[in-house]
Amino acid sequence: AHGWPGLIEAYRDYLPVTDTTPIVTLHEGNTPLIPVPTIAREIGRGVEVFVKYDGLNPTGSFKDRGMTMAITKAKEAGAKAVICASTGNTSAAAAAYARRGGLRAFVLIPDGFVAQGKLAQALLYGAEVLAIKGNFDRALEIVREVANQYPVTLVNSLNPYRLEGQKTAAFELIDVLGEAPDWLCIPMGNAGNISAYWMGFQEYHAKGLSQKLPRMMGFQAAGSAPLVTGEIVQSPDTIATAIRIGNPANWQRALRVHEESNGAFNAVTDAEILDAYRMLAGQEGIFCEPASAASVAGMLKCKDEIPDGATIVCVLTGNGLKDPSSAIEFSHTGFKAGIEPDLDIVAHTMGF
Ligand code: F0G
Repeated sequence: AHGWPGLIEAYRDYLPVTDTTPIVTLHEGNTPLIPVPTIAREIGRGVEVFVKYDGLNPTGSFKDRGMTMAITKAKEAGAKAVICASTGNTSAAAAAYARRGGLRAFVLIPDGFVAQGKLAQALLYGAEVLAIKGNFDRALEIVREVANQYPVTLVNSLNPYRLEGQKTAAFELIDVLGEAPDWLCIPMGNAGNISAYWMGFQEYHAKGLSQKLPRMMGFQAAGSAPLVTGEIVQSPDTIATAIRIGNPANWQRALRVHEESNGAFNAVTDAEILDAYRMLAGQEGIFCEPASAASVAGMLKCKDEIPDGATIVCVLTGNGLKDPSSAIEFSHTGFKAGIEPDLDIVAHTMGF
């Protein structure tokens, strides 16, 4: 076969696989790093800004990076079924990779708080979807217990293979830029992804493949910001349902990343998230989901702290198509309905 083989094959030397490991892949990874010059101009001072568009993975989010590894290792260990709790993206990725590997996929989701595209994916990929009357944090508690007591493998980011797969995004950044960025801006929910990126940056740095280590800048939605306030949030709330999490699974890891990278964690309001969401789409042509826009919203919020001439990467974790109702509800563009199918009326309505 030709072309990109998927991230396990591409980064085999850095991952816990052997020649006999049955790799389950949808050729994920190798996602584009796109300059966003209009957003960079908001900062000025020679700062360069890129987005890592991980919404272009096979199921539309960065979760595919972790799931190719988690499902591969589950299959290697002889598992017949996997389970996760999810705000949506993990469930879509778990479903796709599990089914491709011939495993059953059980997913617990918070009823009413998963974007439509994600639910559609989980269902069509063939997951067994249980919508619970509770939030993500409660669903995660339950699946951890289920995986302890029954023959089903947990594929949330507590599964160490998830982070192994996800760290390859940091490798890709350095492979393309030739060096680590000065800042890595990233949304945080369970803080698995920020932990994985940091692992990746550290590994390449230790091998001499980069000279710098980035400052890890993590952002949460203001109504769901336990890593910023230091307290569990009992009833997390935000329009960015992907990161509607009050008790992050990788809390301790996140604190280490913060300290080791001299990073900073901040909260962004839903209004700031939506401004960045619209700016990315309307000015750069890049459609991400609201949670992903938190990385850009956070960078803009902290823009006065950015050193002159810095290189910044904002991670866009999920594709905008995941959440069509947010796009329709929060767009500011002029949708005009009920227009008569008449040339003159159309031209007039266009302002000609
Ligand atoms: N962005 C998106 C689009 C996500 O779906 C998630 C997490 C995050 C950011 C945060 O990543 O948890 O590693 O800090 N989504 C999980 C899910 C919770 O179930 O799909 P994190």
